[in-house]
Amino acid sequence: MIDPDELLMIPGPTTLSSRVRSAMARPQQSHVAPEFYEMFKESLELSRYLFGDRSGYQFIITGSGTIGMEASAVSLLEPGDNVLSIETGYFGHRFSTLAEIHGAKVDAIVTPLGERVNQEIVEKKLKQGKFKVLLFTHVDTSTSVMNDVSALTRIAKDNGVISVCDSVCGVGGARLVFDELGTDIVLTGSQKAIAAPPGATLLALSTHALDVMEKRKTPIASYYMNLLRWKPVMDDPKIYLTTPAVQVMLGLHEALLEIKEEGIENRWTRHERIGQAFRAGIEALGLKVLPKENSTASTVTTFYVPQGTNAGEIQETLRSQFGIHIARGFGDWKDTMLRVGHFGNTSATDIIALLGSLELALAKSSKIAPGKAVEKAMPLLER
Ligand SMILES: Cc1ncc(COP(=O)(O)O)c(C=O)c1O
Repeated sequence: MIDPDELLMIPGPTTLSSRVRSAMARPQQSHVAPEFYEMFKESLELSRYLFGDRSGYQFIITGSGTIGMEASAVSLLEPGDNVLSIETGYFGHRFSTLAEIHGAKVDAIVTPLGERVNQEIVEKKLKQGKFKVLLFTHVDTSTSVMNDVSALTRIAKDNGVISVCDSVCGVGGARLVFDELGTDIVLTGSQKAIAAPPGATLLALSTHALDVMEKRKTPIASYYMNLLRWKPVMDDPKIYLTTPAVQVMLGLHEALLEIKEEGIENRWTRHERIGQAFRAGIEALGLKVLPKENSTASTVTTFYVPQGTNAGEIQETLRSQFGIHIARGFGDWKDTMLRVGHFGNTSATDIIALLGSLELALAKSSKIAPGKAVEKAMPLLER
């Protein structure tokens, strides 16, 4: 069991505040009690604030981020629809797979490792005129690569294509204003930059996205993931569809309140500052950050470990000696890369603690002399 004094800095879930933990520790309550639906209604309003959404529709559904992805895919797509899917890592590929499972013909653009998608290639493809939907990931947690949501949405709009953004690793940490962007669907999960427990997916839908779902020729081939079935519940949370994960919803509500209290602009700025300081610290050690300079994210960072060292061993030293939990590289990169989630409640102090501990852990197995990372990061963390 993780000790409350230990730092959970994997790319989600992340450390919960004591307020969120206390909210979840309340006695079990009824999901049809007035207190629950009042709380849920308020969460939907807070989620509007989080997404910067005044014009669209908010959904909060029990289930992980993948439920949000699949609900978007199955509710929008009809068999034979053409989809352009951008794969900047594992989660982009997951979106392609989901679309295919639901009968779409998927054309995938797989970006070179560590690079966001080239917008000209997307534009050229969409100009062909055959695509109904563009799927893309905001920040792909497997690579830490961030795409330009604004540019991709604009290209989709210019070509009459519905845009769907998986921002599981973005919303709440990386700058995103749904109304300004005009993306048709943005979805996220509760366990990353929102700093709530895993178990809820949050979506913002444009009126256009809902309209497309309502005008489908074929029925939506899912009960649970049919967003049209959830719409009345979001309009009136007194309506029963399925039993929500009450405790998760209590934690999420508290986390959303904390976001409102911090202020979303302040939160984005904090994430930018700590992300930049963390990357600068890593680079000061002579280590390479995987994403190219224009593709880095404020929420997560993937970086290479020094040659001759093993990522798993460094990860284990951090855990056993310093009480800090980070993740290894994804899949094939598990021995050569490390991944850090610096989002949600991550503070400047946490970044210094991690960089200092990392330097000491690296000094055991490489020629790296401790001190440089913290020295480089500290001034960047000052307000
Ligand atoms: C970018 C991205 N998309 C989707 C998912 C899937 O979310 P979940 O694991 O909550 O189903 C994740 C999970 O890490 C993710 O990072």
